[in-house]
Amino acid sequence: MSLNYKNGELYFEDQAKLSEIIEENEGRACYVYHLGNIKKRFQVLKDSLSGLNALSIHYAVKANANSEVLKTMRELGASVDIVSGGEMDIALQNGFESSDVIFSGVAKTKNEILKAISKEIKQINVESTQELSRIGELAKKEGKKISIALRMNPEVSPETHPYITTGMSENKFGMDRSFIPELVRILKQYPDNLNLRGLTMHIGSQLLELDVVDEAIQKLLSIYHELEVLGFPMESIDIGGGVGIHYSHGDEEKDYKIIKKYGDIVTQSLKNFKGEVIIEPGRVLVGRSGVLLCQIEYIKETNYKNFAIVNTGMHHLMRPALYQANHRILSLKEKEGVQKKSYDVVGPICESSDFIGKNRTFLELEQGDYLAICDAGAYGFAMANNYNAHDFPKEIIIS
Ligand code: LLP
Repeated sequence: MSLNYKNGELYFEDQAKLSEIIEENEGRACYVYHLGNIKKRFQVLKDSLSGLNALSIHYAVKANANSEVLKTMRELGASVDIVSGGEMDIALQNGFESSDVIFSGVAKTKNEILKAISKEIKQINVESTQELSRIGELAKKEGKKISIALRMNPEVSPETHPYITTGMSENKFGMDRSFIPELVRILKQYPDNLNLRGLTMHIGSQLLELDVVDEAIQKLLSIYHELEVLGFPMESIDIGGGVGIHYSHGDEEKDYKIIKKYGDIVTQSLKNFKGEVIIEPGRVLVGRSGVLLCQIEYIKETNYKNFAIVNTGMHHLMRPALYQANHRILSLKEKEGVQKKSYDVVGPICESSDFIGKNRTFLELEQGDYLAICDAGAYGFAMANNYNAHDFPKEIIIS
């Protein structure tokens, strides 16, 4: 567990007293990231895949683009997976080399592609035939050769929230097998400008049932061999990200079991693959490494329910409103001698969907109390906005 009570106070990794941090910030809502926790998890993931011939870990910047988080990833030896020109800038500003960058995403603009070509990034992950033609055309105009990977949909159906499955033909992402003839035609049109270095997939996020990963890899390998037979030898397979965490508990030992299972499945599926294996993890590395701290502005008790109205909400952490995600919520101080009560923890935004947690039981809460919203290190601040002209939350680093 990375969050534990000691003498009635909630600590992050037994080191940082969270009530002190929010008090120093006068109660303002803040994300707190623990870099040591990221390092620990990175090592577990890397070790789980140590049986592969060649592994490259491309951290998915979209999960958490905080500078200190990115610098930590770089120190750990990670590369990056980015999805926009903006994320490319952030990665390069934080010390990554162009050769560390993989560029995914369905809607890359001409300017973004030109930037990728001029920087000579490692690989563009291509999601449609028109995108491939656009890249070929722009590289030709620039007199450059750019490496690409084709994002193929393995047509497997993982168990996750429907908003975050991505590997089916009904999703906007990637391409199915029927695209191959047209892809081959375009590749042959630009032999001096397009270097097909591999295939890529990403079947979805927050995956906890991992058997489907083997099936997906087998399907990708079969497309790989089909393209080799058609005269395109490649050097890498990128299997995307997706490993989930259980939001219902904070037991990291259980996370490590899931990571180990993932490692075993991937190592077994790719045991005969001689090239580079790329992964693009996001949540599994940083999800547990962040908490969102907030303060209760008001308690409102009605005949129907009790509300704890806090100074954070869907504008800071969109996941509950968007995916009905259940983040654990803990009091920063353990109380004694008060009764248990149930509350909806809600924010300041003028929308009924603005909740952080519903029907949560706490020892009786009071105005001014502090709460920690757990496992908010991934897709937390990254998806925050200032709707209703509220402030963004602060970000605080524990190193
Ligand atoms: N690679 C690609 C191409 C992706 O689209 C994603 C995530 C990842 C890697 C990293 O996936 P991860 O390892 O983090 O599962 N906002 C949602 C998650 C959206 C994920 C989008 N793509 C959430 O809060 O659950």
